[in-house]
Amino acid sequence: MLKVDGIDVFYGNIHALKGVSIEVLEGEIVTLIGANGAGKSTLLKTLSGLLKPKNGSIQYENKSIAGKAAQTIVKTGISHVPEGRRVFANMTVEENLELGAYVRKDKQIQKDIQKVYETFPRLHERRKQLSGTLSGGEQQMLAMGRAIMAKPKLLLLDEPSMGLAPIMVKTIFEIIEDINKNGTTILLVEQNAHMALSVAKRGYVIETGRVVLTGSAKDLQASEEIKSAYLGG
Ligand SMILES: Nc1ncnc2c1ncn2[C@@H]1O[C@H](COP(=O)(O)OP(=O)(O)OP(=O)(O)O)[C@@H](O)[C@H]1O
Ligand SMILES: [Mg+2]
Repeated sequence: MLKVDGIDVFYGNIHALKGVSIEVLEGEIVTLIGANGAGKSTLLKTLSGLLKPKNGSIQYENKSIAGKAAQTIVKTGISHVPEGRRVFANMTVEENLELGAYVRKDKQIQKDIQKVYETFPRLHERRKQLSGTLSGGEQQMLAMGRAIMAKPKLLLLDEPSMGLAPIMVKTIFEIIEDINKNGTTILLVEQNAHMALSVAKRGYVIETGRVVLTGSAKDLQASEEIKSAYLGG
C-alpha cells in the first residue's frame, strides 16, 4: 500500500531523515519506534505532505505522492493525527468532527459522526463543548475521531498515548485495534514501545534519522537491543 524508498528530509541544514525506507501493507498496523528527535514525526509529516523529501520516492497505491500538497494527499485517503493532538479549541466537539469530513462529498457524514460517538461515547456527552476545554485524553479521542471522519485508508498516528493516564492509554490502544479491524491500515508512531508492539504486526526502529532495525512485532519484543533501549530492560 505504502512504499517509502530512501528518502532524505532536511530542515535547512539539519538532515532529519537519512535514506529512510519503510513499507506498509494493506490491513497492517506498523509501528515506528525511536527516541526523542529520532525523526518519527518528520517521517509522518513527509508522508502527509507537510514536508517534502529531497531524494527518494514515496509510492502510495502505486502512485508517487512525494512532494505533493497535503490537501492532495488527504484526498487519496491518508489522514494524519499529529503529535500534540491539535484540535480547533474554539470550535465544539461536533464542529471539529464535521471539519474532519471536509474532503468528502458523500451524504454519509452525519451517520459517520454517530459512529464516532459510538466509538467514543465521551465525545457524544461533550459534543456541544468547546474543544479547548476537553481533557488531554478527550482531545486525543477527538483528534482521532476527526481523522476517522475523513474515511482514511491509511491512518498516521503520532504518539496517541503521550501524556495520558494508563487507563486512557489502554482505551486508546483498544480503539486503534478496532479502527484497524474495521479496515483502516495504520502507521503508528510511539514512544510507548511496549503498547505499540502489542498491537502492531511489524515495526521499524529509527535512530537519528535512520532505520536501524525492522522485524515482526514479536521478534522486536524479544530482541535484547529493543528490550534494553525501549522496553525498560
Ligand atoms: N521545524 C524544524 N526545524 C528544525 N529542525 C527540526 C524541526 N522539526 C524537527 N526538527 C529536528 O529534526 C529531528 C527529528 O525531529 P522529529 O520531530 O521528527 O523527532 P521525533 O522522533 O518525532 O521525536 P519526539 O519523540 O521527541 O517527538 C530533531 O533533531 C529535531 O530537532
Ligand atoms: Mg515526534
